[in-house]
Amino acid sequence: MSRGGAHFISFEGGEGAGKTTQIKLLGEHLRNAGHEVVITREPGGTPDAEIVRDIALNGEPGRWSAVEEMLLMYTARSQLVRTVIRPALDRGAWVLSDRFADSTLVYQGYAGGVDPDDVRKLHALVLGDFNPDITFIMDIAPDNGMRRVHSRAEVLNQFELRDDAFYVRARSAYLDIAAQEPERCAVINATQSPEAVADDILQVIIERTGTKP
Ligand code: TMP
Repeated sequence: MSRGGAHFISFEGGEGAGKTTQIKLLGEHLRNAGHEVVITREPGGTPDAEIVRDIALNGEPGRWSAVEEMLLMYTARSQLVRTVIRPALDRGAWVLSDRFADSTLVYQGYAGGVDPDDVRKLHALVLGDFNPDITFIMDIAPDNGMRRVHSRAEVLNQFELRDDAFYVRARSAYLDIAAQEPERCAVINATQSPEAVADDILQVIIERTGTKP
């Protein structure tokens, strides 16, 4: 998808994969190079969508069915795309999103039990063929990622309380999506040092955009 000078990049992966750190590092790099950068996250990124985040993530596992979670995520996503992401891309900005639609496909679809084709149909209904230009799949073994989460979080959200099998399904679903869509997705070894991960990410951006930002 050509967007002129604008770029939409999403960061995906299991819990504790270091997405947020890498978005911050890439954002600083791009801003230092003189680009407008918009950093956002999902669910969230607008005041209303942050309210959706609060009700979707907090409470007991099982508070929402997987279908209800999917609808919450797409309600928030629709508003975020309409009011933040598309306008930023229209201005020529780099948009970096901490999670996007692959999270729904993985967490509510492949790992959560909603038919992945139904998730794709809802995506088409809400957003058509709107998707990131590049998606980084930050890959880490679930037990390793969860160790990182436990070492930093005081209160775990309802996704961080799911059983190990859920995270194992999620990891393999991410790797399957990356294999199915190699032009969009790049798998990054998230167990490396933050500096090494950042180097890998920049290398992919240079290769895929054809410019050194
Ligand atoms: P995180 O931003 O700390 O990764 O937490 C967000 C949580 O929400 C994470 O466990 C994944 C989950 N999630 C979904 O289940 N579906 C979605 O569509 C999105 C965006 C997130």
